[in-house]
Amino acid sequence: MKVLVLGSGGREHALVWKLAQSPHTTALWVAPGNAGTCGETLAANGTPVVNVPIGAEDLPALLACARDHRPDLTVVGPDNPLALGVVDLFQEHGFRIWGPNRKASQFESSKVFSQDFMARHGIPTARAGTFSDVQEARRFCESLGGRCAVKADGLALGKGVLLTHSVDEAHRALDEILVDRTFGAAGSRVVIQELLEGMEVSLHALCDGKTALLFPTAQDHKRALDGDQGLNTGGMGTYSPAPFLSDTELASVGRQILEPWLAGCRAEGIDFRGLLYPGVMLTRKGPRVLEFNARFGDPETQVYLTRLENDLVELLNASVEGTLDRMTLKWSSNASVCVVAASPGYPGSYPKGLPIEGLDRAAALPGVKVFHAGTALKNGRVVTSSGRVLGVTAWASTLQGARDAAYAAVDEIRFEGMQCRRDIAAKALGRG
Ligand code: AMP
Ligand code: GLY
Repeated sequence: MKVLVLGSGGREHALVWKLAQSPHTTALWVAPGNAGTCGETLAANGTPVVNVPIGAEDLPALLACARDHRPDLTVVGPDNPLALGVVDLFQEHGFRIWGPNRKASQFESSKVFSQDFMARHGIPTARAGTFSDVQEARRFCESLGGRCAVKADGLALGKGVLLTHSVDEAHRALDEILVDRTFGAAGSRVVIQELLEGMEVSLHALCDGKTALLFPTAQDHKRALDGDQGLNTGGMGTYSPAPFLSDTELASVGRQILEPWLAGCRAEGIDFRGLLYPGVMLTRKGPRVLEFNARFGDPETQVYLTRLENDLVELLNASVEGTLDRMTLKWSSNASVCVVAASPGYPGSYPKGLPIEGLDRAAALPGVKVFHAGTALKNGRVVTSSGRVLGVTAWASTLQGARDAAYAAVDEIRFEGMQCRRDIAAKALGRG
């Protein structure tokens, strides 16, 4: 089977790595990929993975690429191409593609849509309202005493959520999003949720429109600095499983969210074939969905795929075909930890093109896989090219072992000003 993957981050390197292991994969292209993706080879025939220099949002060029290579399956990594309708476009032209169509991807591309959907279908979430009128939005914030999560409706590179602790702060957040339009058109409407307290976990479920197969738990670390300090980022590290829910509790949380969600999708004619990623707060009153994403998490994918024992091609095919009810997910009992090595200054501005040393030494360690995220090749050397540079991932029979191995690998790697959090998985080990 010939496969095309869209995207260029750590998530996409992990997808490529796992797809390359499948005996079904006979050719694999990535648009545009990174310096890690083109270093993979296919288990089936030893062929190298090929990067094609097309951005994941350049729909006409992607379609032309599909016409050239005739992939049997295209796999979409990031949210933007989904929201732009890449799935609908490929399907119109007869190409099989994995990921939710434009209508289904609204769960991520519109927070207002998601929040209203949760209200319609009784999905446990925060007390919330959706607004385009500033005065009404202000009054709702005031009714919450200013303790709010104020969220721009549309995609805002993960930056469109402002947490406020007073009425003044909430008013300023509303001005920033609705009046000053700091996030552009994404901020023409807002979701305002009550500010919740609790432990945050990432859930993932692979869906085919009728069935949703729940993954084990993972936890991301969204703030830039140790101790959950500093600015929000795309995610600085993950681990799986997260010990805050037993298997039985996870299944129950999954049921509370996924059953009404599937029923709602059926009732509203939403055919979601892809990955649903609810961000969930475990509060004293039970689980509450903060948001839905319509794609694999990054860097959740890195820890999930290093634990997944199924053939990923078979799973994604079943998601496309609507036959997930015949599949069972199989997970290694190992724990997995991913530590992100980021550019100096990230998530603010940062330099690019810094040479990276020590990748071979890190890769030679047992139970370690260094996923590339923002890397490029320059005169045969691997250099930094984005904010999150590497997802250094390790697995072992214990979480402590996986964490030690991940940091041992991180310590082999150097680039000027490299920053990483030193407390990934610390909460799970009782030290966070
Ligand atoms: P979101 O993109 O909606 O997941 O929000 C980004 C981050 O803001 C989440 O990962 C949470 O850490 C935080 N957050 C979002 N909504 C809430 C809420 N209602 N209460 C507390 N924290 C929140
Ligand atoms: N791990 C955060 C995200 O993928 O949105």
